[in-house]
Amino acid sequence: MPVQPGLGWKVMVIIMIKLSSNENPYPLSGEVAKKVNRLALEVAYNRYPEKTYSELRDALSSYAGFPADKIIAGNGSDELILLSLLKYGGRDRVMISPAPTFGMYSHYARVTGTEIKEVPYMLEDDFIFPEDEIMELARKFDDGIIFLCYPNNPTGERLSLSWLAELLAETDLMVVVDEAYYEFSGETAIDLIEDNQNLIILRTLSKAFGLAGLRVGYLMANQSVVDDLNEIRSPYNVSNYSAKIAVTLLGFEDEYRKQWIEMRNERIKLEDFLVEHDRITHFHSEGNFILFKTDGDEEEIKDKLLERNLMIRYWNDLDILGKALRVSVGLPEENELFKEALKAILEGV
Ligand SMILES: Cc1ncc(COP(=O)(O)O)c(C=O)c1O
Repeated sequence: MPVQPGLGWKVMVIIMIKLSSNENPYPLSGEVAKKVNRLALEVAYNRYPEKTYSELRDALSSYAGFPADKIIAGNGSDELILLSLLKYGGRDRVMISPAPTFGMYSHYARVTGTEIKEVPYMLEDDFIFPEDEIMELARKFDDGIIFLCYPNNPTGERLSLSWLAELLAETDLMVVVDEAYYEFSGETAIDLIEDNQNLIILRTLSKAFGLAGLRVGYLMANQSVVDDLNEIRSPYNVSNYSAKIAVTLLGFEDEYRKQWIEMRNERIKLEDFLVEHDRITHFHSEGNFILFKTDGDEEEIKDKLLERNLMIRYWNDLDILGKALRVSVGLPEENELFKEALKAILEGV
């Protein structure tokens, strides 16, 4: 449309507050930002990456406390989920997981022609992980893969490590434990790798390290698993730039730890708010997100929040829960805006 002379030109910038993807809300700042800016000119953009990603794997190794030669870096952990299914899934094999859980397990199971066996969580005051049912399926099938998310997205709870050890001893299926939210829960199954050839631990820099846009995940397992997966991995699956930035951020672990504590405190404040509101039922979370339901129409609530420029995750049919909402922990001021808006919407203001 032509601008009419003399009318002037007003530009309104609307900032959407995104609390829908469990990202780290803090922008790069201080020393980290300065270092990242300098790196932009140092990366060899014209060269392919070094195929073994030794610098990145060394940095991941000292961060995770796990040998570098048993680590694979990926284009986000999504790529490593696909890689695991390409190797251990496929026709005539099963993919077992609880439901609800992270959607990419069943998505890539479908893509790879793997038969999906989802076991619903039980629901009392909180979600109850279906230990017996998953154990039973793991005993029944002898070829395939099990995905367990620890803590689980979106339910937020953690399965029991002693049950996991029992499962690993009972089955020859590959068991993938996705620790995308490890830094928020502080709990890991990493110590079980040594004694279990059928265990893969997945992690990502997308959540705690705020690197979702650059796509860096990693996987830890025994040597034979790592060798098998490296055989099918694309040689240059992480860009030079992403690998360099990842190494840099891992060097600032202490700074990030402060953010994780703050995000944890903010999650507790959000839970306190949700618990106070009698029209809301929420589920305790060990991640940087909280799943909740209301006695109203969740879709309408999601839309009304959007009108107020707040984006949260909505499901119209989340397994046993039906309609459901999930809010990610944002910056303190974003969380305040979310609380105010949700309260006003529920009170019909
Ligand atoms: C449990 C879980 N695993 C993996 C991912 C994806 O991580 P990445 O960004 O490393 O692909 C997510 C993202 O939401 C997630 O919730």
